[in-house]
Amino acid sequence: MSKIISPCYNVIDLFCGCGGASLGLELAGCRIVGAVDIDSTACKIYPENLDLKPICGDLKHVKGSEILKHYGLKKHDVDFVVGCPPCQSFSSLRRTRGLPKGDDKDALIVAFLKRVREIRPKVVLFENVPGIATLEGGRYLDLYLKRMHEMGYESVCKILDAADYGVPQHRKRVIAFSVEGTNGKEELLMPPPTHSDPKFVDEGDKLPCVTVRETIADLPPLEPGERDSVIPNHKARKHTQKVLEIIKNVPKDGGSRKDLSRRLWLRCHRKLRNGGAENVYGRMWWNQPSPTITSRCTCPSSGRFIHPEQDRGITPREAARFQTFPDHFVFPTETASADRYIGNAVPVLFIQNLVRYFVEEYGHLS
Ligand SMILES: C[S@@+](CC[C@H](N)C(=O)[O-])C[C@H]1O[C@@H](n2cnc3c(N)ncnc32)[C@H](O)[C@@H]1O
Repeated sequence: MSKIISPCYNVIDLFCGCGGASLGLELAGCRIVGAVDIDSTACKIYPENLDLKPICGDLKHVKGSEILKHYGLKKHDVDFVVGCPPCQSFSSLRRTRGLPKGDDKDALIVAFLKRVREIRPKVVLFENVPGIATLEGGRYLDLYLKRMHEMGYESVCKILDAADYGVPQHRKRVIAFSVEGTNGKEELLMPPPTHSDPKFVDEGDKLPCVTVRETIADLPPLEPGERDSVIPNHKARKHTQKVLEIIKNVPKDGGSRKDLSRRLWLRCHRKLRNGGAENVYGRMWWNQPSPTITSRCTCPSSGRFIHPEQDRGITPREAARFQTFPDHFVFPTETASADRYIGNAVPVLFIQNLVRYFVEEYGHLS
């Protein structure tokens, strides 16, 4: 295989958040040489965990040349740009409620494309929610891929589930991997899945998906409102009496609000006909990957976020483990804030495994 990617492999992480993707890239052997995010808290969390201070700014206005200058880089110093323009504009929630007035749906994709044009890396990795592939017939994803093609990049693009790559969480994301200057001579492929659910697929060559049990069972048990004195962010939310009564009655290991007697149903759930809100107040299953970790991942009212057997929502540390952050990666002590950055991150191991494959297939670090 020809070496498309240059061996030095320096990366700029645009929309870097707290640094999930950056950490995955580092663990895959890359060097993060620049990062940008608009959120001041994200820009504080990032350098507590990674050896770089992001530029705190709006990528609609921070130009590629400013990023290069800020970090003392020249264009050819950068091999790789990673970008995760925020998903909110394409989430199903926003789609049903409509976007706020003046919110330009493709503004951040366009900003990302401009920054790529200015920095001109050899390789670009783009991550987004699956909604970008379906909203308005997929025109936003098409626009992205078409513009990349016009700029001289060939791309491979697919919706992947992080659980199929060893992450203990079902999390589907659009991944586009683009390489400049191959002129279609090199067929780009997505990494084949390495893991599968043994219950549904009998594919002997794959490992079984990593489960909730393997991921969090070793953490010290906690009562609601209690925190562990050693493990950062292992702190359980307090629940109201009503919520606690619901939680206690949800069957262990995969039960949900639908298993509750009607007496315990919340008024809003009584109004739901033909199902709906299936997962809220649900417990995780011990022997499956977790559901998608969101920015409200420790709130039982927001999804299947109750511990499989303890009577509480999961802690930010448990959520961070489902996102494959190491325990030494720290988040704000305030739970809602920690949830936000954990839920918005790209799973560390997902990026690490994807990038390792791309490096092995399309060029080496050596
Ligand atoms: C999906 S999160 C990225 C997560 C990150 N890649 C990680 O793995 O931790 C999207 C990020 O885009 C940032 N963002 C939103 N609008 C922005 C803008 N106009 N300029 C720069 N960053 C922006 C948000 O603050 C958020 O941290």
